[in-house]
Amino acid sequence: MMLPSSPKRPNLFLRIPLVLCGVGIFFLIAQYSRPSEEQVAHMRLQKSVKLFTERKGVAVDRTNRWAQDENAAALGELIFHDARFSSNGEVSCATCHDPARAFTDGAKVAVGVGTGTRNTPTVLGAARQRWQTWDGRADTLWSQAAEPMEAGVEMNFDRVSAVQLVRNDPTLLAAYEAAFGEMPLGLPPVEFAERARPLRLDAAADDLSAAWDALVPSRREAMDAVFSRIVKSLGAFQRTLDAKPSRFDHYAKAIVDRDIEGAKSLSESEARGWIVFHEVAKCDQCHSGTEFTDGEFHNLGLPGADGRLPDDRGRHGAIPKLKVDPFSSAGLFSDDVDGKQATLVRGLKSDPETWGQMRTPSLRNVGRTAPYMHDGRFASLEDVIQFYDTLEGAIALDHHREAVLRPLGLSATQKADLIAFLRSLDSVEPIAAK
Ligand code: HEC
Ligand code: HEC
Repeated sequence: MMLPSSPKRPNLFLRIPLVLCGVGIFFLIAQYSRPSEEQVAHMRLQKSVKLFTERKGVAVDRTNRWAQDENAAALGELIFHDARFSSNGEVSCATCHDPARAFTDGAKVAVGVGTGTRNTPTVLGAARQRWQTWDGRADTLWSQAAEPMEAGVEMNFDRVSAVQLVRNDPTLLAAYEAAFGEMPLGLPPVEFAERARPLRLDAAADDLSAAWDALVPSRREAMDAVFSRIVKSLGAFQRTLDAKPSRFDHYAKAIVDRDIEGAKSLSESEARGWIVFHEVAKCDQCHSGTEFTDGEFHNLGLPGADGRLPDDRGRHGAIPKLKVDPFSSAGLFSDDVDGKQATLVRGLKSDPETWGQMRTPSLRNVGRTAPYMHDGRFASLEDVIQFYDTLEGAIALDHHREAVLRPLGLSATQKADLIAFLRSLDSVEPIAAK
């Protein structure tokens, strides 16, 4: 039986050129709609920098009712610059956090009434941090301020003297009352001049702590109440010291907006440095987000003296202090004891892997805050990059060593680009305080 041939089918000789023509058109369209290599790279760059165009203001601090109070900030500013809040009358917060040096001191380790063991970080942008200091032993900006004032090597002041100084100085008293109202009842007479401060967890008992213990509880409570407000005023003031936008922020916006002129706010080397940072060395595994920090703690394996294990316990030593600190977010003087931060603090444990860990520092203004690392061991950014590049001398002990760090083996150009990029993170506008 014969099948009837389909009359609609063109014969073979016609079909081949038709198919070929179709394939040709398909490739032509594909060619024009497929983005060029350059376009792909630009899209990837846009995606990688978009975050920085969405940087928000400093978040609300519920643990400090006066965090956004202008009168409290005004008192805090006076105290920040007032060296009378030290045992020798020579050291203020600004001695180490010098506005002319991006709120650092340029020293390897801090020198106040004594000499410390840690490098002074900037306070610019500190209000954005969940944990304060290298080991995070304070969990709010205001609670942090209590320590330097009473620490022996920093200001070596004491709680009674701080309260009495505010009460006896007409300018400070007026500023205090404008923010917080009248002083509480139960304070000692204004002429009471004995020095006294409570004992800190890691300090040895001394005359000052004995004098504090000897005070009647109602006086201690009244003084704690005033002192907590003094430090809350320092918190309010330091909130105003944000890290202002950098050239890199301007570049990020220009890239997202496809603004060719604006993208020139970074040199070619600086722009390549971002790629080294983000894609090659993957520094943002830890220096992530708009502040270039994950806010968490890591041990980079930096060696101690003579290549031995370092003595600084870092996060491991900080957690027990935080848990008993009456000025923490979970403590008596917090205005948000049931908040997220307080819950986090209550759940902290000093696990063995926290030993030697330090908080990832923000890299904003890093070009201005030499020397580097928690102990100021590296004088320059070149030294820092040399370490990451080779990991020379790094301590490699199971849990003491961060698994993400590998020697990078960067070329000389990549290293120079990376450093140029880091310097583009400095704020553009002047950062000196009033
Ligand atoms: C003797 C120098 C010195 C003085 C004085 C001093 N600081 Fe500091 N500051 C430091 C050092 C060092 C650190 C880091 C401490 C650590 O990690 O153990 C620090 C840390 C800080 C931090 C945390 C920043 C961060 O990124 O973690 C803040 C905020 C701060 N200080 C504010 C103050 C205030 C407010 C005062 C005055 C009440 C003050 N400091 C007095 C040296 C000083
Ligand atoms: C595993 C997490 C991690 C990675 C990855 C990482 N860092 Fe760090 N970075 C840290 C920590 C933690 C510190 C502080 C260490 C200390 O003082 O003990 C630090 C310190 C620094 C400092 C010193 C800042 C200061 O104020 O003292 C610079 C600069 C820096 N890192 C840049 C980089 C660059 C560039 C890369 C990529 C090559 C990188 N980091 C990769 C966690 C990391």
